[in-house]
Amino acid sequence: MKKIKRIGILTSGGDCAGLNAVLSSVVAAAEKKGWEIYGIHNGTEGITETPHSYEVLTLKDFSDSPWPRLSGSYLGSLNKGLRIESLEEVSKRFAQGVKDLGLDAIIVVGGDGSMNIVSNMSKGAKVRMIGIPKTVDNDTPITESSVGFQTAVEYCTTSIDSLELTARSHNRAMVIEVMGRDAGHLAIHSAISGQADVCLIPEIPYSIDGIINKLQEIKARGRNHAIIVVSEGCKTEDGKSVSNRQNMVGEKVYGGISEYLCGEITKRYPAMQFRSVTLGHLQRSGVPAARDRLLAYLFGVHAVELLEKGEDKRMVVWKDGKISSVKLSEVVKTGTTLVNPKGKYVHTAKALGIYVGEI
Ligand code: F6P
Repeated sequence: MKKIKRIGILTSGGDCAGLNAVLSSVVAAAEKKGWEIYGIHNGTEGITETPHSYEVLTLKDFSDSPWPRLSGSYLGSLNKGLRIESLEEVSKRFAQGVKDLGLDAIIVVGGDGSMNIVSNMSKGAKVRMIGIPKTVDNDTPITESSVGFQTAVEYCTTSIDSLELTARSHNRAMVIEVMGRDAGHLAIHSAISGQADVCLIPEIPYSIDGIINKLQEIKARGRNHAIIVVSEGCKTEDGKSVSNRQNMVGEKVYGGISEYLCGEITKRYPAMQFRSVTLGHLQRSGVPAARDRLLAYLFGVHAVELLEKGEDKRMVVWKDGKISSVKLSEVVKTGTTLVNPKGKYVHTAKALGIYVGEI
């Protein structure tokens, strides 16, 4: 086994709170082993583009700075996907970049998409790779928790708390759109914590009449305001996508379901006023929650230890209350983790009287 002298670390995909704590953790643990750490700028671009863009990260300059306490990515990230036809070409540039930079190993902090892309790219490169899961969507397979999710849940929950007060003042229903892509984890976690009345997630079909029944039930109890949480990946009542927008590589861009719902519900239930609020990218920022930082530090140290043991193409995971790791191929094979309609969160939401759709 080749002894590690230098590792690279990069953040890939949409940013979230806790990324800088991951960097700090890796820097602290790797520096102790005498390794040099190259922080790669802007996801894989710092390696694939020339001149390569990176900086040396040290305990003194990085971990001792305020950055580990802040959200965003100190290194910059890349969330624009990759044209699949260009994978071969990009992989060649990646392999060359790894050689130019003299990297023995690379730690990728990303979601399931990034794990897939970078593990493919690194096949032809002589570099070991370990993944650390992060995403506000919490849809990375196998791990029960990804860095950034808890902060997003906190933000959504406190937003629900704030919006409940203005809804109460004006006898309105607030329709709150949260992130998550095709997974409703963020919606269901924050709807339960924030005592929402309705929670729509992409995994469960709903009906406008079902929502109206819930609103009427609330009104019959003497409450004239309501909270509706909707995950951005939900479709229209008849199953059509709300947004036809795509990013530069043809991936779906979400957004607009809360406006659609306001319009549709108002048509059939004019007795109540509706307002839509999209929480947007604020969900990815703010002060990283303690739980996300803790996970970041646990994951970072474990990733370095895996590399030291000679491991390759694995992702660290939080499962059954423990840190461990799984093969990246297993992560890729399993695919995006969705909310289980028969699982504990949906069960609990229903038991609390939250309308979660036609289930
Ligand atoms: O995957 C993370 C995420 O924040 C999604 O929840 C959201 O749909 C998307 O990224 C937004 O991406 P962008 O950074 O391109 O606006």
